[in-house]
Amino acid sequence: MKTAITELFGIRHPIIQGGMHYVGFAELAAAVSNAGGLGIITGLTQKTPELLANEIARCRDMTDKPFGVNLTFLPTFSAPPYPEYIAAIREGGVKIVETAGRSPEQYMPALKAAGIKVIHKCTSVRHSLKAEKIGCDAVSVDGFECGGHPGEDDIPNMILLPRAADELKIPFVASGGMADARSLVAALAMGAAGMNMGTRFIATKEAPVHPNVKKALVEATELDTRLVMRALRNTERVLRNKGVEQLIQIERERGAALKIDDIHDQVAGVYPKVMVDGDMDAGAWSCGMVAGLINDVPTVKELIDRIMMEAGQIIRQRLTGFLDGVVESAPARAVA
Ligand SMILES: Cc1cc2nc3c(=O)[nH]c(=O)nc-3n(C[C@H](O)[C@H](O)[C@H](O)COP(=O)(O)O)c2cc1C
Repeated sequence: MKTAITELFGIRHPIIQGGMHYVGFAELAAAVSNAGGLGIITGLTQKTPELLANEIARCRDMTDKPFGVNLTFLPTFSAPPYPEYIAAIREGGVKIVETAGRSPEQYMPALKAAGIKVIHKCTSVRHSLKAEKIGCDAVSVDGFECGGHPGEDDIPNMILLPRAADELKIPFVASGGMADARSLVAALAMGAAGMNMGTRFIATKEAPVHPNVKKALVEATELDTRLVMRALRNTERVLRNKGVEQLIQIERERGAALKIDDIHDQVAGVYPKVMVDGDMDAGAWSCGMVAGLINDVPTVKELIDRIMMEAGQIIRQRLTGFLDGVVESAPARAVA
């Protein structure tokens, strides 16, 4: 399939694996890129720029295809040395960066001088337009369904994607709630040039996380995510668990007076406990509503091949069939 996104990034399929803390290691990024998508290493999971340089080198050993690095500009307990992370990306020869969180404006000159293409993740049309204005090459439009930080506007992709299509000149991918061929075809129909998946890629053989995490995703339904940290204007969609129930209880008690320190134990240092140790009750970790559409743990290649094969079928048979006057009696189901 050819779209503005496959052309921009030099990839075979318009499928991106979004940066994911403690998930986006070289193993997953390389698997996605080898399968024809765009794999992304999560920059800040690497605790220093030197460690990121090693991770980039490891990824390069595993794939000769393009891959990217995610740089997240979120409020953290201590600000990382972003210019040094960018230097590691540049020196590692990586030509694609996914930025997220705050605007990447102040880092754009350095990224552009290194010939790096920037795709910025945005949860609103106004932030997407800002990204376009400051020279981003593409946008990842992240709807309210998404795992992680959906922003504070709560606009789902059914509205956000066509709104973005109406306003943007640069290409964009649909992010949040994307799981299968139906998601891809719907995203393309709404004006996107591809899709970005987070949660779905965790439930793959190559995702280097504890098996308990994959099992939890297969078992979870679309009802099992919770929004936390709204009072801090740092809303995050996470998978429900004991730690998250405690967090929500604290939020109820503190109300608008909530401070990040009140929930430190439920949000800080949770990722290694969940992703490495498999402690599924440890606290808040990002997870999308799309968990309700995840029923298996395929290899990344099986997942991507299946999506592309079924997307062809949906477009060629189902949709063209409607034009030809074919009335289907059954709804379109995913194969998995
Ligand atoms: C476990 C997990 C960790 C994530 N960590 C990050 C991160 O560090 N930086 C970032 O920009 N996005 C992060 N995200 C968001 C994803 O890149 C992606 O935008 C999101 O998962 C899309 O929604 P979906 O989960 O419905 O596919 C994370 C998502 C998950 C599920």
